[in-house]
Order: sequence, then C-alpha cells, then structure tokens
Amino acid sequence: MKKISFILNGEKRSTYVEPNNLLVDVLREKLGMHSIKYACGRGDCGACTVLLNGKGVRSCIILAIEADGQEILTVEGLSKDKLTSLQESFIDHGSFQCGFCAPGMIMSATELLEKNPNPTEEEVKEGLSGNLCRCTGYTPIIKAVLDVEKRDVDKK
Ligand code: FES
Ligand code: FES
Repeated sequence: MKKISFILNGEKRSTYVEPNNLLVDVLREKLGMHSIKYACGRGDCGACTVLLNGKGVRSCIILAIEADGQEILTVEGLSKDKLTSLQESFIDHGSFQCGFCAPGMIMSATELLEKNPNPTEEEVKEGLSGNLCRCTGYTPIIKAVLDVEKRDVDKK
C-alpha cells in the first residue's frame, strides 16, 4: 500500500492505495464521492468524469497513484453551498431522466464553461462528445449548457 494525498473538492485528503487501484474506485469507495458513476470501465462513456487540475479525465482509466499531489473536483465539490447555474439549468431543462450520465455531463460542461463561458451549440456538442446519454437524446442537455451564460447575465 502507498499513501497518496491530494486536494479533493478544496480539502486536503490522504488515503492508502494499492498500485493497481483505479481512481474511480478510490474516490467512490474510500472517499465517498458517489456522484461519480462507473459504467463502461474503459474510458468510452464519460460517466466517471472528474476534473483533475481543471481538466476532465475518465477516472476509470486512471490509477489512483497518478492523482498523488494533484487537485480533483467532483460534483460534490461544485455544490457545497448552493447549486451552480449549470446545475440549475440542468434541472430547469429536464436534462436528465435516469440521471446516470448527469454527474459526468456536469463535470465536462463545467470544464467547457470555464474555458469558454459563451459556447456555440457546436462547441457544446464538441465539449460533451465524450459523454454518452442513453435517455434524453442530448437536446435538453445541450440547451441547458447554452442557457447558462444567459442565466449568469440575468443575475447580474
Ligand atoms: S465508466 Fe469511465 S468512461 Fe465509462
Ligand atoms: S439521463 Fe439516463 S443516461 Fe443520461
């Protein structure tokens, strides 16, 4: 076992891992980050997406030891006090049905909006292209992301 430490949702956390432990398993099972979903297990669906140093990664294909000394953000860290504009927009647009894809979608869209606060529809599609949804047909998800800029302007 090896001790690793990282910043998880703004707090310093340490844990012991085996060299072959996957990041998704350590975050979910050892550290209680159950927003992260596990589906394909091979980097194809995006359900396990977290932000590692601000960049979206598939936590099912990353070893936990690779996160040593890094900064990780999950949905739990987005909404400690109140929902983000993106999360509110997902709710208002009915952007989930079973909800399984939503945490990964939210993290990918969060990364996109950090880099590009006013994306075009094509840019949203591109930004979410690694996240699969079996239920919604994607339209309400894309609309929710496109609506965030307008919400933030309306709040000002
Ligand atoms: S579970 Fe990680 S990409 Fe599908
Ligand atoms: S809402 Fe069910 S997979 Fe997206």
